[in-house]
Amino acid sequence: MTVRPARRVPWPLIVLVALASGCATESETEPAAEASAPMAASSTPDIAGRVDEFTSWIEVDLDAIGANLEALRQHTGVEVMPVVKNNAYGHGLVPIVRYLAGQGVERVFVANVQEALELRQAGIDLNIVNMGPLFTDGQHMRTVELGITQVVFDDGVVQRLSDAASAVGQDASVFVKVDTGLRRVGVFHDQAADFIERAASLPGIAIEGIFSTFMQTPEEDRAMLARLLAVETDVRARGIDPGLRSMASTDAILHFPESHLDLVRPGMSLYGIYPEEKDLDAGVTLTPALSLKARIELVKWVDEGDSVTYWGRFIAPRRMMIATVHAGFYDGVPRELANVGSVFYAGEFRDIIGSVSLNHVVVDVTGTDASPGDTVEVIGHAGPNAVSAIAETANWMVYSLLNHLNPQTPRVYYQGGEPAALLEP
Ligand SMILES: Cc1ncc(COP(=O)(O)O)c(C=O)c1O
Repeated sequence: MTVRPARRVPWPLIVLVALASGCATESETEPAAEASAPMAASSTPDIAGRVDEFTSWIEVDLDAIGANLEALRQHTGVEVMPVVKNNAYGHGLVPIVRYLAGQGVERVFVANVQEALELRQAGIDLNIVNMGPLFTDGQHMRTVELGITQVVFDDGVVQRLSDAASAVGQDASVFVKVDTGLRRVGVFHDQAADFIERAASLPGIAIEGIFSTFMQTPEEDRAMLARLLAVETDVRARGIDPGLRSMASTDAILHFPESHLDLVRPGMSLYGIYPEEKDLDAGVTLTPALSLKARIELVKWVDEGDSVTYWGRFIAPRRMMIATVHAGFYDGVPRELANVGSVFYAGEFRDIIGSVSLNHVVVDVTGTDASPGDTVEVIGHAGPNAVSAIAETANWMVYSLLNHLNPQTPRVYYQGGEPAALLEP
């Protein structure tokens, strides 16, 4: 089995990462020197100075992510492979992985090859497992050249990786996705051992592991686990080492200890979110890491009976002071929060009144001395504007909320309570 050695990536006090999104070209895959970032904040006051200019921004508490990682390690006792797909669930891919590398994480899980390339381009050297498909010869070559582990369940892809391995002169690592009943992606479990045997026989193919995804239905999940373990037994009987075995994401990490096997794959829990109410009793303390902040743009008075926002969605029941806050559904604020959401401002939760616009929400700030430039917490860590509470109010999944945050919104990273890094796409 070829496994890249974990390398600790230094976490500089200040890193301003400005990366083009999308697929890197061959010449772009060289590690990007931090010095080549177009702008560089050089101190905490510099970051604070940049933040003063933002209309909306996301704050990420890296210490919370570190604490969640440790809690998950303690709870499972096995390797934790953070799921950093989809821009690290909105937290910002490169800064999060750079931080995780410094916490001893050996491998991370990305959604597609573009994310894998973005990490390599940023000089990140830990194992990257790509669960997304490859289509072109160039993608297969680059995957091998850059030491990215590819999720496989198709003979054609394994053959192309083997060809690329021969051309490049280094092994292609693969993680085999077994379909144990979800029927989404993966080689069906009753064909998996044959597939793995064929893959292992090809030159340059190194099997790093086998994994599957639960349905998250307890009765079905037990049968699914048994199917993955049967594949392992069959493969071993053929004299092949299947490598790491993995089944559990957050739900099974919290509720199905027998499924932890060699490697767990947390997404939500790493970011400090309990996806469901029942998760609160699982005995794992998680701390949310992300908040969305925005500035008040305008404060004004409206009279009783005045309508506020599109379609007159809100009619003032009395004379009110209202603030227009510069964050809306462009930033990822659900439109369903119209007239029912809350933000935190001046020590209290304040009602969102009227519709949520592309770039604005309007908030009742009666009784405050609100003024333009003041900061409002649109998404927070507790109470009615916490991620789970917003998702419930909006009737969204918590997953949708984090994964709809705009990647263009600047992100500020805190360590020890101080701004430590800034991501300004
Ligand atoms: C294959 C796989 N493993 C793990 C996860 C992480 O799931 P969770 O966020 O529930 O921990 C995901 C997320 O969708 C996934 O697709």
